[in-house]
Amino acid sequence: MHKAPKIALNNGVQIDQIGYGVYKVPPGTTRDLCALALEAGYRTIDTAAMYGNESGVGRAVRDAVAAGWLERDDLFVTTKVWNDHHGYDATLRAFDASQAELGLDTVDLVLIHWPCPDQDLYVDTFRALEQLYHDGRVRAIGVSNFQLPHLERLLAETSVVPAINQVELHPYLQQHALRQFHDTHGIRTQAWSPLGRGAILADPVIGRIASELGRTPAQVALRWHVQAGHAVIPKASSRERIVSNLDVYGFELGPQHLDALAALDQDTRFGSHPDRVN
Ligand SMILES: NC(=O)c1ccc[n+]([C@@H]2O[C@H](COP(=O)([O-])OP(=O)(O)OC[C@H]3O[C@@H](n4cnc5c(N)ncnc54)[C@H](OP(=O)(O)O)[C@@H]3O)[C@@H](O)[C@H]2O)c1
Repeated sequence: MHKAPKIALNNGVQIDQIGYGVYKVPPGTTRDLCALALEAGYRTIDTAAMYGNESGVGRAVRDAVAAGWLERDDLFVTTKVWNDHHGYDATLRAFDASQAELGLDTVDLVLIHWPCPDQDLYVDTFRALEQLYHDGRVRAIGVSNFQLPHLERLLAETSVVPAINQVELHPYLQQHALRQFHDTHGIRTQAWSPLGRGAILADPVIGRIASELGRTPAQVALRWHVQAGHAVIPKASSRERIVSNLDVYGFELGPQHLDALAALDQDTRFGSHPDRVN
């Protein structure tokens, strides 16, 4: 079994560097795929109210703890507040609903899924997360898809520094300015679509490095994230992929590989631009 190292968030809470993402995992198979991921060594699972599969994630976690082979404290569950629940009261209600779906006493991390700048409610939404944090219902709070102006405003108008900003990030979208800002302010960078939804895996440069190192293109992409210090949450649907995506700690990309991967940055997104989601 492979294990990802834990990394510390800005409040000392530990998260696995590699977690299992469940966007587009059908609700009916979520419990079993999450159980498979836990058996493979994953200890962090990333879901969201919008994915419609929180209950399967919660069941996998509760079943593993009830069976006695995992401790709840060793597991980390992230969920997110969807765009139709921005605003202080709506966010508290959305969290109640997520917590009920998950069936967990404490949620490890809750994020604002998108800033939704046209609604202009993300500051109030974050204040609701601060309340949940102070009430001990969540161990850490953060954001997702926040751009520099959104982060700057949160830092100026709220009191808890987000533990994480989860953003689209992969060799085709390297997000240098945002990562620099995160590092300056103690915000962890967590990459969604770390494999570019699979689309970057056919890249000839990534393929060449993979053959040189006797690894898969997905392992090369994930190793690039790991060496850059990002947390990542790849999604995969087969045991083989779930297992091999965690097996990235037994090799290293050299300076020439890193240079070649740095040159792939081309501002290409496979998901939506945060300015256009509301
Ligand atoms: N905060 C946000 O707004 C946001 C947005 C998007 C995603 N996310 C989170 O980030 C997670 C990951 O992002 P993502 O699902 O968009 O994309 P991803 O993890 O970059 O890529 C997933 C795709 O790559 C394929 N894949 C996985 N491992 C592979 C391997 N070893 N070899 C070949 N192909 C492989 C998967 O196929 P199969 O599934 O068929 O195996 C799937 O099609 C999501 O599940 C979700 O938790 C967050």
